[in-house]
Amino acid sequence: MFGSRSPHYEKVAHSDTEAGEEAPRQLKKSFISRSTTYFNFGFFVVNTIIFVTTLWANGRKGANWALKQTNYDTPLLDQFTFKMTDVKQNASLFNDPFTIYKADPSPEVDAAWDAIADTPVLVFSKEDIVRIGKDPEYTTSVPEEFGYGTDKYFGVMDGQHLIHCLDELRRFAHYDYYYREKWGDMSNIPPMHAAHRSHCIGVLLNALKCQPSLNIVTWTWMEDQPEPFPDFNAWRKCQNTDELFEWIDKRQVSRQSIKDWDWKRPEGQKEIPLLPQLKEEEGKGGEKHADLGVAHNHGQGHTHDS
Ligand SMILES: *[C@@H]1O[C@H](CO)[C@@H](O)[C@H](O)[C@H]1NC(C)=O
Repeated sequence: MFGSRSPHYEKVAHSDTEAGEEAPRQLKKSFISRSTTYFNFGFFVVNTIIFVTTLWANGRKGANWALKQTNYDTPLLDQFTFKMTDVKQNASLFNDPFTIYKADPSPEVDAAWDAIADTPVLVFSKEDIVRIGKDPEYTTSVPEEFGYGTDKYFGVMDGQHLIHCLDELRRFAHYDYYYREKWGDMSNIPPMHAAHRSHCIGVLLNALKCQPSLNIVTWTWMEDQPEPFPDFNAWRKCQNTDELFEWIDKRQVSRQSIKDWDWKRPEGQKEIPLLPQLKEEEGKGGEKHADLGVAHNHGQGHTHDS
């Protein structure tokens, strides 16, 4: 931006004949041009320092910084240190290599899913509720008797609720094992369970579409197979999810307290209107409430199906 005053274009007096009257003006000019050069150089150095420092700082911010770019504001990103690891996923057509989560239902499979599809309840401050985009006046607060003080609110990590939903759909996929004895044909399932099923399909699609995996699956030639065979084993950058779940587990609100608490609406509590579908269900003498709230936590395992 100081190009027009560049010293290249300065005519500098260097002989006696050119000296004289011209001298003071030339001196002044070269003084200005020298100052400009120093200023330009200083400006360049400062810019370089800022640029390098920013690169260095961004590099150091690591996974938490990256995740902040791809998540709505969440207190978890200030509280837990995320790590990213390159992982090649096992996505074979058959359950080989064996993963318990893909196996046919059994008490062991249920135990594995109960552990991973858990939705531990956490406590958040009023500021946290505001920053995650919720209205504290419409958010269920933690009763003071729980010992967290005042102006505290319940919350569950969305990702854990999504895994819970996948487990719900898994149970419907193994309908005979989980439900047939109780309800007979699938068309007989109670409306609230049908609602839960469609709710789960919806939230999983929302999440997968909101942030789809951009990693690529390919095809390969398999011995004896007439056509290319898909290779779904994609590389992904995986978060330290097991550590995160452990961290959440340690901070969760006592399940027993939630289970035993005699839930009462606080005085003057702001409410949302009753869902028309729930009203209709109640009218028919159906289930009083959707089993989707903090009552998720039944202690040992999920009992939606019992
Ligand atoms: C895939 O399976 C192999 C063999 O059992 C195992 O060593 C590896 O850890 C598995 N990878 C993942 C991401 O689970």
